[in-house]
Amino acid sequence: MTSDAQRLAARISDATLAFQDVLTIYLGERLGLYDDLERNGPSTSAQLASRTGTHERYVREWLEQQACAGILGCAEPGAPAGERRFFLTTASAEVLTDRDSLLWSAARPRSLVALAQKLPMLREAFRSGRGITDGMEDARTAQGDLGRAAFLRQLATEWLPAVPDVDARLRAEPPARVLDVGCGSGWASIALARGYPLARVDGLDLDPAAVEDARANARTHGVEDRVAFHACDAAAPELREGYDLVIAFEAIHDMPRPVEALAAMRRLASPSGTVLVVEMKVGESFALPPPPNDRLNYGWSVLTCLSSSMCGEEPAGTGTLLRRGTLESYARRAGFSAIEDAGVPHEGWTFWRLLG
Ligand SMILES: C[S@@+](CC[C@H](N)C(=O)[O-])C[C@H]1O[C@@H](n2cnc3c(N)ncnc32)[C@H](O)[C@@H]1O
Repeated sequence: MTSDAQRLAARISDATLAFQDVLTIYLGERLGLYDDLERNGPSTSAQLASRTGTHERYVREWLEQQACAGILGCAEPGAPAGERRFFLTTASAEVLTDRDSLLWSAARPRSLVALAQKLPMLREAFRSGRGITDGMEDARTAQGDLGRAAFLRQLATEWLPAVPDVDARLRAEPPARVLDVGCGSGWASIALARGYPLARVDGLDLDPAAVEDARANARTHGVEDRVAFHACDAAAPELREGYDLVIAFEAIHDMPRPVEALAAMRRLASPSGTVLVVEMKVGESFALPPPPNDRLNYGWSVLTCLSSSMCGEEPAGTGTLLRRGTLESYARRAGFSAIEDAGVPHEGWTFWRLLG
């Protein structure tokens, strides 16, 4: 008989292995080791180290660990250490090096490492009750990189076509104006401009570094003539009103003053325009066992999102789980009359339409 205590100890032991995977994948991604193996095929530790400007002894240990973890393959495990050749399997090549794949996950460890970098500040925040404003480069770039493929491949082909009036307006003359609130690295704005060739898109974000990333991404994707990015607070954007679509992806729950941001979104939309708020698909209230996604989102919330929403005076303190009732109350305080699920098929997000 296995006791509950034994099961919990075993779970923590499994989590230790999983955490080691996260940290060693982080090293492989940040040092360019996976990308190099993808370009050059099966390699010894000395070959990989010399091509990537790394030290052979460290690289050899990493390669052997990756093979033991089942992430890399090894052609001749019985050969002398310096002669063993390691390679990406077809699956690991897709998941770790193909940035256009919906399964690409190499940046996921980066977002977790960013959480770990924040832990000393978070310990202090738990005591003081204050928020954390410091943006981590790893967190910013991982958020953008992880969303990129889905935005580019699905936003204008699957998600918005499920909201027919919005899709039709974005395809029609006169050219539609779109505002992407809390745009981060800009991939939703870029995907909108690419998928709707008439549309003009503005993206705004409080974080100037994210806005710089977004401008560079728009240039490399050839849409800088129809997409402009602005570094400003969603609550007080100096933008001309009259947008046909105002949309915020995973941003409202991070904001200390979400009602002011929603009021600005309402003001900036044209009388016939649409306001969409895209947030995590979570249960309607705290429940045990938790509804799908709630455990994962509580993890993000404790470790990062809640502390973003706790900044400044009288912060909302929303956290990642922006439940229907909370969004409805924010929306009414911002001047909307109601919210409804826009019915977009998505595993992790609900697209809320704010009415009135
Ligand atoms: C979780 S990220 C989502 C980024 C992007 N929408 C995406 O889906 O990749 C939330 C973004 O909201 C931005 N943000 C938070 N508070 C903001 C505010 N008051 N005004 C504008 N942007 C804000 C953050 O800087 C961050 O880039």
